[in-house]
Amino acid sequence: MDGNLQSNDLSGVVEADRAHVWHHLSQHAGYMADENPTDPKIMVEGKGLRVWDQNGREHIDAVSGGVWTVNVGYGRETIADAVRDQLVKMNFFGGTVGSIPAAMFSERLIAKMPGMKRVYYANSGSEANEKAFKMVRQIAHKRYGGKKHKILYRDRDYHGTTIACLSGGGQDERNAQYGPFTPGFIKVPHCLEYRAMDQGLGELSGEAYGIAAANAIEEVILREGPDTVGALCLEPITAGGGVITPPEGYWPRVQEICKKYDILLHIDEVVCGMGRTGTWFGYQHYGVQPDIVTMAKGVASGYAAISCCVTTEAVFDMFKDDTSDQLNYFRDISTFGGCTAGPAAALENMRILEDEKLLENTVAMGDYMLGQLDELKAKHKSVGDVRGKGLFLGAELVADRETRAPLDEKLVGQVVGHCMAKDGVIIGMTNRSVPGFNNTLCFSPSLIATKDDIDAIISSVDGALTAVLG
Ligand SMILES: Cc1ncc(COP(=O)(O)O)c(C=O)c1O
Repeated sequence: MDGNLQSNDLSGVVEADRAHVWHHLSQHAGYMADENPTDPKIMVEGKGLRVWDQNGREHIDAVSGGVWTVNVGYGRETIADAVRDQLVKMNFFGGTVGSIPAAMFSERLIAKMPGMKRVYYANSGSEANEKAFKMVRQIAHKRYGGKKHKILYRDRDYHGTTIACLSGGGQDERNAQYGPFTPGFIKVPHCLEYRAMDQGLGELSGEAYGIAAANAIEEVILREGPDTVGALCLEPITAGGGVITPPEGYWPRVQEICKKYDILLHIDEVVCGMGRTGTWFGYQHYGVQPDIVTMAKGVASGYAAISCCVTTEAVFDMFKDDTSDQLNYFRDISTFGGCTAGPAAALENMRILEDEKLLENTVAMGDYMLGQLDELKAKHKSVGDVRGKGLFLGAELVADRETRAPLDEKLVGQVVGHCMAKDGVIIGMTNRSVPGFNNTLCFSPSLIATKDDIDAIISSVDGALTAVLG
């Protein structure tokens, strides 16, 4: 890191932050306490997989910026250069017109997504999902007199922070106190085999469970009436709801059900997209063909804000079929969807993923890390289940292996805190998401992770499990 940092006094920054910044997902009382207040953490510098805070302390970041974002790692000068060059040439024009990087990135992106055709630019994952929801609603009005407007979402999935996204959000603790919600969003059951017993499906496993979990979606469609259901919105692998890899047989059956009832399949790749699971997109592991795909975090690895709502040509066509109708196009705009920094950063981000063969590294290191987590499971009885794909992994902690009773989330928090305090290793946990089930440790190092990095992360977790849980 920059050797000057240690000698720089950042106490003024800390005090300005303490006085005026409202942190995301944070209870501030500890920073304001009369006695022994803790300091808010300020991240000052990053390089590769490592970040340094205001005290010059080095950390290994096992969660890519806390929220599965910095896929290509910190300190990428070529992305900064690409963004700078673009900004001095043409920084912004509203999205009714095009830009060079937006056109070029859309072409590169679509080449990775057979069957998809159009890219709608916005800024955040939530916003991209809002675009998808609006498309579904407008299609319902244009083609079905408004009737086929319902959007199905799944228990434990998350699609963003706006009121409409929370309305389609399956994490009750994220939603609590923010209602009333938008009508027309309907919940379907989750597909977490480890918790099948809570769904009365405990006797099923593998493909039999996968098909039963998908059939549970069909039951909801039949209950609601297929002519009222416009879309099904799913994460390919649920992220913040517990790193839930879908069971065998699930996705093909989901696709079949959507086709049968003429329901658009919207896959939320905000976390899994752009290489995180070892393929360009998570759904590509499962041979499904979506109608709408949304993405954000890893698209530019956090070097600029960008999200995309990508559709098939068939979906796009529905918005240009009748030019005599003045309302017959997608009447939506995102001011900052016209910023060129996003696609400029995304182009260079994609080049890095390709030239450095980071998808291949993700597969190899993901397999290695999964194996290491399995060894932790063999050693610590508190590790009940290990899940994930590529460098997107989770370990569900339990108080009792037999009953699978979830570990108290305070103890899970202590494991996370121990890794940070003792080793400077930043890991994550499911956070204010599913009541009683905020018990999964989350790992998502950047896709440049090496065996040594993974060994350091695993060794820290091993020590923390012993220290906290014995
Ligand atoms: C699966 C998923 N979709 C959507 C979002 C929302 O993205 P954003 O925070 O960029 O609005 C998130 C955020 O964590 C997410 O995990």
